[in-house]
Amino acid sequence: MGKKLRIGVIFGGRSGEHEVSLRSAESIINSIDKSKYEVVPIGITQEGRWLTSGNAAALLPAAVMASDTQERVAIIGDPTRQGLTRLNEGHRAISSDPLDVVFPVLHGTYGEDGTIQGLLEMAGVPYVGCGVLASSTGMDKIAMKDLFRQAGLTIIEYEWFLRSSWEENPEAIVKRVARSLGFPMFVKPANLGSSVGVSKATNKEELRDAINDAARYDRKIVIERAVDGREIEVSVLGNDDPAASLPGEIITGHEFYDYEDKYVDNTSRTEVPAKLPKKTIQQIQRAAVTAFRAIDGAGLARVDFFVERGTNRVIINEINTMPGFTSISMYPKLWEASGVPYAELIDRLIQLALERHRDKSRNLTSYGKREE
Ligand SMILES: Nc1ncnc2c1ncn2[C@@H]1O[C@H](COP(=O)(O)OP(=O)(O)O)[C@@H](O)[C@H]1O
Ligand SMILES: [Mg+2]
Repeated sequence: MGKKLRIGVIFGGRSGEHEVSLRSAESIINSIDKSKYEVVPIGITQEGRWLTSGNAAALLPAAVMASDTQERVAIIGDPTRQGLTRLNEGHRAISSDPLDVVFPVLHGTYGEDGTIQGLLEMAGVPYVGCGVLASSTGMDKIAMKDLFRQAGLTIIEYEWFLRSSWEENPEAIVKRVARSLGFPMFVKPANLGSSVGVSKATNKEELRDAINDAARYDRKIVIERAVDGREIEVSVLGNDDPAASLPGEIITGHEFYDYEDKYVDNTSRTEVPAKLPKKTIQQIQRAAVTAFRAIDGAGLARVDFFVERGTNRVIINEINTMPGFTSISMYPKLWEASGVPYAELIDRLIQLALERHRDKSRNLTSYGKREE
């Protein structure tokens, strides 16, 4: 048996989805094939401090975040360092700790949005999942829709505007969206996840409140016509030749799939696989792969759709480039139902990270003469 690959699993982060990330990472660390991989746990606190555990046995997020044997670490954007830099009390670099692959199990801001991917690119470390472009466009609901539309996917009618325009002339915006979209509508901050700041408005009064709320989270605000549809999700896995899983359905217990429903009272249920006609399943799978390619995805993404009641239209809602990854989350459950068990999925993602890194390493970074 060859040398074990050292996998840096990063969790936590400066994000509203910090807790969800801890849960995803815990599942991954528990299930990763320890005969092939050595886990190096890396926690990022809500304040953005990077920690690892000084105790080799304390691998799980709760232990790393709580332990009194915490060690400060950093990843530095210098590819000759090749991994994790350990710091002493005075924050001086004391040693380098090589990492073969990093799995950034971070959801939302500073994790799913291209920022940590940029750091890992600078550092020259292979990492699981989407690169900078796919992560950042997959995070911005407006950029994402532009790319989806270009790729020929069906999107929901929407309007967007800046917070500064809202503050300047709110009534003009209320009038405009009421005329172009009609009630009910959904109001969202452009760059968030987990339904934070998302609300449904059924009249002008609610619309104003909803926009004010969304404007607390982002400088860009999106408003969409409300779709009366079933919520269907598909998992995509691969690099240049991605595959789509069977779809699953979210059946919400609330007015819509809001934050409480997702993480607090869990009144929603999932149906895996979703009960849909074969033709619709194929249509959704093709659309999921198209969406993945449209943002230049790599590794993994979960693509979320509505199937409109009455018309059966397949409408794309969004793509998530680092979807929830506990063993009972939709992304791995859909692969499990499609024949890829959880531990194997982690394995495949690590291999895809290495493949992508090798492919990128072929690119010249200076003007070079072609060898004859
Ligand atoms: N246009 C819409 N029509 C109907 N329901 C919507 C619409 N947009 C969002 N929702 C509901 O709100 C939830 C969260 O919105 P979503 O755009 O997925 O944001 P997030 O990125 O926070 O998950 C969806 O899962 C769905 O239940
Ligand atoms: Mg969503």
